[in-house]
Amino acid sequence: MSKVLLPPKTMLIPLPAVMVSCVAEGFKPNIITISWIGIVNSEPPMLSISVKPNRHSHQIIKKSGEFVVNLTSESNVKMADFCGNKSGRKYDKFKEMNLTPIPAQKISCPIIKECPINLECRVTQSFVLGTHEMFIAEIVAMHIDEECLDAKGNPDIDKLMPLVYCTGARQYRGGLAKLLGQYGAI
Ligand SMILES: Cc1cc2nc3c(=O)[nH]c(=O)nc-3n(C[C@H](O)[C@H](O)[C@H](O)COP(=O)(O)O)c2cc1C
Repeated sequence: MSKVLLPPKTMLIPLPAVMVSCVAEGFKPNIITISWIGIVNSEPPMLSISVKPNRHSHQIIKKSGEFVVNLTSESNVKMADFCGNKSGRKYDKFKEMNLTPIPAQKISCPIIKECPINLECRVTQSFVLGTHEMFIAEIVAMHIDEECLDAKGNPDIDKLMPLVYCTGARQYRGGLAKLLGQYGAI
């Protein structure tokens, strides 16, 4: 099979489609769907999200220096798409999608009850890269739905049923149920 050379693009497939909640003084709690996300350090646990400056959430995160990464399951697909296509400037996304804000432990921003894993994050650095500003943040607390834990206290992937976003095809996909093997033991 021959290779086709295409113009360079951000073609990383699949990507998570997480719902990032944020709030700041003078703003209502808001949610933005984010796929430009990655883990960037183990100890302390850190991640990055890249947000376009024209997003309503960008203003909020800039002001508060905090956000929650709410991981999504297949069941969250409708709300993830809504929060990724409507702006908090016009919509109260918690209300429109019937989402339940719960107080976080370490930060002022609410976590989303309907999402199975919630990572409370505090921004430590940010970089304007071009189209996006990358916020690097420390994960200061983590929550997980009890029913999504296996007997050893690890996330149960069959219960989590993670939602992914496929760049290029612009599709949401699920079905991560097929187990191919265990890390280091194939
Ligand atoms: C699957 C998906 C992934 C997205 N990923 C990002 C992202 O990584 N960064 C970003 O700035 N916008 C991203 N967006 C677009 C924002 O979610 C969208 O513009 C949203 O309406 C902004 O809301 P806000 O104005 O309330 O902040 C994504 C949208 C979707 C549907």
